[in-house]
Amino acid sequence: MILLLRQMFPFIRPYLKTALLATLCIFPLAAIKAYEAYFIKNVIDGIFDPNSTEEYAFQLAGILVGLALLKYPFRFIHFFGMRMVVDRATCDIRKAIYNKFQHLSAKYFSNAKQGQLLSIMVSDTQIFASSFMHSLDLIREPLTAALLLGVAFYHDWKLTLIILVVLPFFVGIFTVTGKRIRRYIARSQADQANMTHHAAEGLVGQKIIKAFNLQDFMLKRFDSAQIDFLNHKKKSNSAEEHSHPLVETVGSFAFATVIVAAFYRQQSGALTVGEFISFVGALAMFMDPVRRFSKANTKLNQARAAGERIFKLLEEKEEVNTGAVKFSEFRESIEFKNVSFSYGDQKVIKNFSLKISKGEKVALVGLSGSGKSTLVSLLLRLYDIEEGEILIDGINIKDYELHTYRESLALVSQDIFLFNDTVYENLTAGGKYTDHQVENALEVSYAHEFVNKLPQGVQTLIGDRGLRLSGGQSQRLTIARAFLRDCPILLFDEATSALDNESEKIVQKALDKVSSEKTVIAIAHRLSTIQNYDRIIVMNEGNKVEEGKHTELLAKMGEYKKLYELTQIEG
Ligand SMILES: Nc1ncnc2c1ncn2[C@@H]1O[C@H](COP(=O)(O)OP(=O)(O)OP(=O)(O)O)[C@@H](O)[C@H]1O
Ligand SMILES: [Mg+2]
Repeated sequence: MILLLRQMFPFIRPYLKTALLATLCIFPLAAIKAYEAYFIKNVIDGIFDPNSTEEYAFQLAGILVGLALLKYPFRFIHFFGMRMVVDRATCDIRKAIYNKFQHLSAKYFSNAKQGQLLSIMVSDTQIFASSFMHSLDLIREPLTAALLLGVAFYHDWKLTLIILVVLPFFVGIFTVTGKRIRRYIARSQADQANMTHHAAEGLVGQKIIKAFNLQDFMLKRFDSAQIDFLNHKKKSNSAEEHSHPLVETVGSFAFATVIVAAFYRQQSGALTVGEFISFVGALAMFMDPVRRFSKANTKLNQARAAGERIFKLLEEKEEVNTGAVKFSEFRESIEFKNVSFSYGDQKVIKNFSLKISKGEKVALVGLSGSGKSTLVSLLLRLYDIEEGEILIDGINIKDYELHTYRESLALVSQDIFLFNDTVYENLTAGGKYTDHQVENALEVSYAHEFVNKLPQGVQTLIGDRGLRLSGGQSQRLTIARAFLRDCPILLFDEATSALDNESEKIVQKALDKVSSEKTVIAIAHRLSTIQNYDRIIVMNEGNKVEEGKHTELLAKMGEYKKLYELTQIEG
């Protein structure tokens, strides 16, 4: 409970006034409830008293309605206020998580399961919020219970002692079942996250799933995740559903004893009917907060498990942004200096050096796995280098302020990323550009023709990940986006390799056009696309084995020649 409050506090703080006001309403609410229980005595004694007057009956009725009216605003402010605070705090938590996603390192994502991260953001926050709401019951209900017990005590303290004897049993039940629930809830919530992951896979991979008839296979994977979930859920459900009737059974024993004892006391004349009914009423009402407390206790245990995952994620280390130098202009050169790098144990880049001058167009070629994409990732500062350094204009890229640094680079890669939004939004991505600039970018990337043919032109929605466009069309849009950003350095990672020959030609034309007057590093599988580059670097196992112009390299009869022959056969 304290941990939960401590975790939640920073998110509640902006709404502290509302939260305090709502919480303070607990006191009048509990007091009114206790008074109602106490008041039963007056009602019963008043009605059954032979000397009672009509006026007195109306007075009693009036007081009852008055109490309800008095409760109304307190109840409203308490519940509505709490909900408002919790909903807002939940949105803030989600925002913090979303923001976290944008700032975690590439390394974090290569080890994390996407669906699980989604589940933390969507379902864990939901569980956490609703449980937090219930956790307030843990304050409100004991207070109400204590006041009701006070009423019972006032009427007949000896009888009330019987109830006090069972209180430790209640505490025992809550502690034992709470532990069990927590254990299994934590597991079933983890299973739920896993299920979300499988669901996401099943949606994202739709094309391939259909093409390879993987429907049954995917369903089996999903189902086995569900079975794990069911098993753990069954155990936590069972612990939860045992705890409520256990509480009631213990309570009913106490209640039964009270009734028998009350009978004898009433016989000896020590208790009036009104007192007895009011006493029993207070006890019956006392069970209600106990029940609610029991439920809130379960909810709190769920919140602990969800909160653990949420706050662990929020505490993850973010991408390091060590540099302070603002990147304003690219002047001279990009230099890889004795760079070595590994994702895990094995070095995938080994003592690699390369200097690229401003305006130069350099191609990286080599067999699959030779480290080409890794070099691009390192230049983008997606990963930090262990040995050696990358310098731009003589300054280590670590020393540049990350945001301005990345603004100098535009990446067009094989993974085409488009939002489910309009062509316009995809191109500008929130930036301010004139219509003329957008038009020009579309033209340069050979995209204006097909965009103009779309039903609403640049305002057409292009569907999830650009599904309503062809591969070549999507790629031309990403090229237009890169062009619009007007970065001095362009990085192409197999920008055309997912395309067929026809689209490849037009995308290649677009790439060549946006490249003029820029510095380009291009990774190419089809060597025909980079033949006229200023320099070609042949990579093998994390290092450079040859470099030169196309004709020079062919004449060498070495690795490049081999690669060239290989692609000639494929092409
Ligand atoms: N995120 C990653 N985590 C761990 N290892 C990785 C990761 N990305 C790449 N690797 C490994 O690093 C090596 C170099 O990969 P890289 O993607 O740079 O090759 P590449 O030359 O671009 O290959 P391709 O032509 O197939 O795209 C490979 O052995 C690969 O298995
Ligand atoms: Mg690659």
